[in-house]
Amino acid sequence: MLPLITLKNITLGYEGASPILQNFSCAIHGGETVHLMGDNGCGKTTLLKLLNGLLLPLQGQYIFQGTEVSRKLLQQQSWSKSFHQKIGYLWQKPESQLFCSTVEEELAFGPLQMGLTKEKIQHRVQDTLELLGIEHLRERTPYTLSGGEQKKTAIGAILTMNPTIWILDEPMNDLDRQSQNWLIDFLTSLKTAGKTIIFTSHHQQLNQIADRSIILG
Ligand SMILES: Nc1ncnc2c1ncn2[C@@H]1O[C@H](COP(=O)(O)OP(=O)(O)OP(=O)(O)O)[C@@H](O)[C@H]1O
Ligand SMILES: [Mg+2]
Repeated sequence: MLPLITLKNITLGYEGASPILQNFSCAIHGGETVHLMGDNGCGKTTLLKLLNGLLLPLQGQYIFQGTEVSRKLLQQQSWSKSFHQKIGYLWQKPESQLFCSTVEEELAFGPLQMGLTKEKIQHRVQDTLELLGIEHLRERTPYTLSGGEQKKTAIGAILTMNPTIWILDEPMNDLDRQSQNWLIDFLTSLKTAGKTIIFTSHHQQLNQIADRSIILG
C-alpha cells in the first residue's frame, strides 16, 4: 500500500542558520499512530511544520498521498484547502493558532470553510463544547484563556473539522491530570476510528497509544 506520507532525504532549516535535520527519510501509512521523539531543539516542531505545509524542505521531497508537496501546489487554493482539511494540526503553543473573537467562532471556523450547513455546524460545535467540557467558555475570547483552556479550544477547533490526520505537538502540555487522562482516551478513540496520528510528547503516558516511534537527532 502506498504510504500516506513519504519524506525522502529531507534537509530542514531556517534562513541564516545551519540545517536542523539532514538527509532524513521516513514513511507513514494511513491509520498509523506515530510518536516523534527527540531532545529539545532537535527539530520535531520544525518537521511537523513541514508536514503541515507551513515550511518547505531545503532539500529532498515531501510526498503526500503520492503527490510531491511544492510551493506551487500550496499556492493553488483548491489543492491547499483540501490538503489543510485533511490534516488537523495542534500547535505546541496553541495561542498562536487561535484567532477568532470567541471560542464558539473558533470551533465553527473549520466547518464554515468546509461549507457545512448552519444546523450541522451548530450541532458539531455544541457536541464538541460538551465533549471537551468547555461549554462555559463558549463566549470567551481565546487569547484571554488559560494555557489548558486554549489547548482544549484548539483541539475542539480540529475536532469540528473531523480531519483524517491528526498532528499534535506536545498535546499533554498545560493539561491537568484529569484532562491528560481524557486526552489519552480521546486519542485512543481516534486511533480506533482509523485516524492517522502523529504526535510529539515528553510525557511518558502517551507512549501507550503509539504503534511505533521515530527518533530524531
Ligand atoms: N523560526 C525559527 N527561526 C530560526 N530558528 C528556529 C526557528 N524555530 C526553531 N528554530 C530552531 O530550530 C531548532 C529546532 O527547533 P524545534 O522547535 O523544531 O525543536 P523541537 O524538537 O520541537 O524542540 P522542543 O522539544 O523544545 O519542542 C532549534 O534549535 C530552534 O532554536
Ligand atoms: Mg517542539
